[in-house]
Amino acid sequence: MASDLEPQNRKWGHSLGKRQGFSSSLGVIAATLGSAVGLGNIWKFPYLTGENGGAAFILVYLICTAFIGIPVMISEFIIGRKAQSNCIGSFKKLAPGKPWFFTGWLGVASAFLIMAFYTDVAGWVYAYVFNSATGALTGLSADATAGAFQKLASSPIAPLFWQWLVLLTVGVIITFGVQKGIERITKTLLPLLFILLLVCDFRSLTLPGAMQGLEFLFKPDFSKITGLVILTAMGLAFFKLSVGMGTMITYGSYMGDKENMPATAVRVAFADVFVSILAGIAIFPAVFAFGFKPEAGPSLLFITIPMVFNSMPLGSVFLVIFFLLSAFAATGAMISLLEVPVAFLHEEKQLSRKAATIISILIMGGMGVLATLSTQGNLLGSVSIFGKSWFDAFDFMSQNILMPVGGLLICLFVGWKLGPSAIQQEASNGGQLNNSGLLKVYTFIVRFAAPIAIIIVLLNGLGLIRL
Ligand code: PHE
Repeated sequence: MASDLEPQNRKWGHSLGKRQGFSSSLGVIAATLGSAVGLGNIWKFPYLTGENGGAAFILVYLICTAFIGIPVMISEFIIGRKAQSNCIGSFKKLAPGKPWFFTGWLGVASAFLIMAFYTDVAGWVYAYVFNSATGALTGLSADATAGAFQKLASSPIAPLFWQWLVLLTVGVIITFGVQKGIERITKTLLPLLFILLLVCDFRSLTLPGAMQGLEFLFKPDFSKITGLVILTAMGLAFFKLSVGMGTMITYGSYMGDKENMPATAVRVAFADVFVSILAGIAIFPAVFAFGFKPEAGPSLLFITIPMVFNSMPLGSVFLVIFFLLSAFAATGAMISLLEVPVAFLHEEKQLSRKAATIISILIMGGMGVLATLSTQGNLLGSVSIFGKSWFDAFDFMSQNILMPVGGLLICLFVGWKLGPSAIQQEASNGGQLNNSGLLKVYTFIVRFAAPIAIIIVLLNGLGLIRL
């Protein structure tokens, strides 16, 4: 078998040219996982789980991760590494003169939409690191804690200050480039984050009444499942793994010939789900133990968590730890979001990385102002587009529409345009990996199962068909 592949073997490989890539497999895992793990785990996963009924929602989300998220991630790696280019350039290289590069544009649009609201939430997190460290959140009553968050979110100045500080931080890291910026930061932050989460879990699980929270997390109630809930779970799977919008195409293009891309995708997805569950275990047992409601919505992290930590010994220390951890996670994810337009502008428009970063940040900051000022009670709080605030509209558009549509196109591109033999070649590193059985399953999923599932969930969730 191996000898059959020998002639192809010699031909197989990618010339990295002048492009800088990740330095090692550990660097690849750190950067990819650093992109996946973020506010999605600590903010979105818990509040969406709380709003959508707990374990049943988590189950749908896990199914989507396994059968759609992981295959889309492998597909993006294949595209990026084969083309050695950014998310638009890759399609232009692999399908010259064809409209496929439009998929890359959707990705860039998603990156801007996501950054607009993500930097707002990350700004609240940075503010909460500061506020909890200075003791401003210590010893407050439930009402006062809710009031403190409301005051921050509805102020026209403070959240913008924090949001721009976030943008500046991420921008500075990105200008250091792939190895010194992305790799170095994520390698340091991830282990730290893991340890801090375990500390919070231990605290939460040792509270009296922790069981009810665990039940909420692990005992499914299927009556809560609707078309929109399934779409939300699928959207979360895309959002969580940073797929469907070109981040993983860009990161795939920084991978060397020896990386085992399917294995990387599976490992990253497992680790990412694990972090979400750890975050859930840190939050829900405590929520129930202190008699709070799990469906608090986006403010869950900012109101419930301080109240929870305030009502226990050493709470103020844990509070600082928790928000510091969230800030680390958010920063790693934003680095990868910003890298999408920066790589595009740098490679396709011949701008320096610095200029590309500045331009991207200005656009993201501009859209971010809209998201931030549209929070309830803020200056644009009553303006609505499609019946939603700017913040919610950016969130819904990117997570529940653009990323699934992007993921659909990516599957179709790899499954049909590149086709089965290119898949075997690329994802087995020219026959060097012994994974052809696995790749057959993967090929079936990207050609048929995933595209059909995405279309059905999308149409059903948007109410365009009724199942
Ligand atoms: N996966 C990140 C999170 O869960 C968000 C993200 C989405 C990052 C898309 C990059 C691209 O927080």
